[in-house]
Amino acid sequence: MKIAIIGLGFVGLSLAAVLGSKNFNIIGIDTDFKKIKKIQNGIPPFSEPKLEKILKIGLKKRLKISSKFEEIKYCDLVFISVGTPQLSDGSIDLKNIKSVVKTLGNQYKNSTKKFQIVIKSTVIPGTTVKIIKILEKTTKRKQGKDFDVITNPEFLRESKAIEDTIKPHLIVLGGETSNSLKKLSNFYKNMHPNIPIIKTNYQTAEMIKYANNAFLATKISFINQIASICEKIPGSNVEDIAKAIGLDPRIGKLFLKAGPGYGGSCLPKDVKALINFSKNTGVKPVLLKAVNSINELQIEKIEEILEKKLKNIQDKHIAILGVSFKANTDDVRDSISINLIKLLLKKGSRITIHDPMALENARKIFKNKIKYTNSIKNTLKDTNCAIIMTDWDDYQNILKKDISTMKNKLIIDTRRILNYKKLDIEYHAIGLGKK
Ligand code: UGA
Repeated sequence: MKIAIIGLGFVGLSLAAVLGSKNFNIIGIDTDFKKIKKIQNGIPPFSEPKLEKILKIGLKKRLKISSKFEEIKYCDLVFISVGTPQLSDGSIDLKNIKSVVKTLGNQYKNSTKKFQIVIKSTVIPGTTVKIIKILEKTTKRKQGKDFDVITNPEFLRESKAIEDTIKPHLIVLGGETSNSLKKLSNFYKNMHPNIPIIKTNYQTAEMIKYANNAFLATKISFINQIASICEKIPGSNVEDIAKAIGLDPRIGKLFLKAGPGYGGSCLPKDVKALINFSKNTGVKPVLLKAVNSINELQIEKIEEILEKKLKNIQDKHIAILGVSFKANTDDVRDSISINLIKLLLKKGSRITIHDPMALENARKIFKNKIKYTNSIKNTLKDTNCAIIMTDWDDYQNILKKDISTMKNKLIIDTRRILNYKKLDIEYHAIGLGKK
C-alpha cells in the first residue's frame, strides 16, 4: 500500500515519520520548499521531542518527502493534515484544504485507481460533505464507488506528538457506510491493536474533535475562575482544590492546572470556531462564550497586579520568563505570553524575555522591540518585576543570586511553579490568596 500525507505540520509530519519508521511506503507532501528541504535532510522544522530521531529512521527506510503532488495518483490512501486557520470572525478558513482537494482530484481524474482520502485536519461539521462534492466534480468519479472519504480527527498534543501518534488514546472514524470504514479501521487495528475505535458518520466525527477541545478548554477556564475566587480568599490555594476535586473520578485530575489561560494553535481557535458555528445553527453558545471570556480575562489579572504594585507600568522594566504556549515546545502561536508582551509594549513597558526553546520564534514577532537572553539571571537584571508565564522546569528553582540584581524583587507566577519560600521576594501567584 502506498500512502501520501499532505501537510507536514505537527500532525502530518509525526504521522509520516512514525509510519515511515515502521517501513510503510510513504510520501509526505508540503508546499513550503524551505520546510521540505529541512525535512529531507532529517531536520524537523519545529521542535518536537523524539521527532528528529524517528524522522531520520523513516528517511533511511521508505519515507520520501516532496513538494510535488504528481505521485499521489499512485497512492491508495491519502491523509490530509493541512492547517485550517482562523478568520477574523472566529470561523475557520477552508481555503488550504479546498485547494489541496482540487489538486488531488486533478491527479486522480484520469486514473481508474480506487483511493481513500482521510481528513485529519480539524474541520467544522459539514466540511467533509463539501470536500466530497469538490472531489466528485474534479475527478468526475463517484464517492463510494471510485473513492471513499473518511473523517479521522486527530487528538495528539504538541510536545507529545510522537508518543500520541504511536499510542493514541482513541481513533475516531467518520464515513458514509460501515463498509467504507473497514479498510482504514483494519489499518489502525494493525497499528494499535488495543486502542478503541469509534465509528460514526462524517458530521459526528467532525463534531467530536470540537467537543473534545472545547471540553478541555472548559476545564481550564473552570479552574481559572475558581483560581480568581481563591485569590480573594486569604490563604486559599487552588492547587489543593484541583487535587481534591480531581480525585473525584467523575471529574478527573487532568487539565485542572490554573494558569495564564489556554494558548496554542488549537484550543483558542477551536473554541472560537465552535462559538461561530453554534451561532450559525441558531444555538446560543452561552457556555463556550464564557469559557473564551474567562480565558481572555486571565491576562487582565496579571496587568492588574502589575498596575497595583508598580503604580505606572510605563517605562517599567519587566522580565518575561517563558514565551512558548506551554513547556517543551518552541511554538508561540496564540501564546498568552506573546499577547501579554504586546499589551505591555503598548503601555510603554520595557521587556526582556527568556525561554529555553522559543526565543527565535519570539524574535520573528518582536524583532528589536524587546531584549532576548539565554540566562535567567540576565533576564532578571535591573527589572521591576518578573512574570513566569510558561511552566518550564527551569523556573522552579530560581536562585537567590538570580534575583539579586532585580530592581524590585517582585515575581508574578502564573503557573505556581516557583519554589519561592526561601527567596526574599514579594510573590504573587494565580490562584493563591494573599494572607
Ligand atoms: C490540544 C489538545 O490537548 C489535543 O488533544 C489536540 O489534539 C490539539 O490541541 C489539537 O487540536 O491539535 P495542544 O494545543 O498541544 O493540544 O496543547 P494542550 O496540551 O492542550 O495545552 C493547551 C493550553 O492549555 C496550553 O497553553 C497549556 O498551558 C494550557 N493548560 C493545559 C492549562 O492552562 N492548564 C491545564 O491544566 C492544561
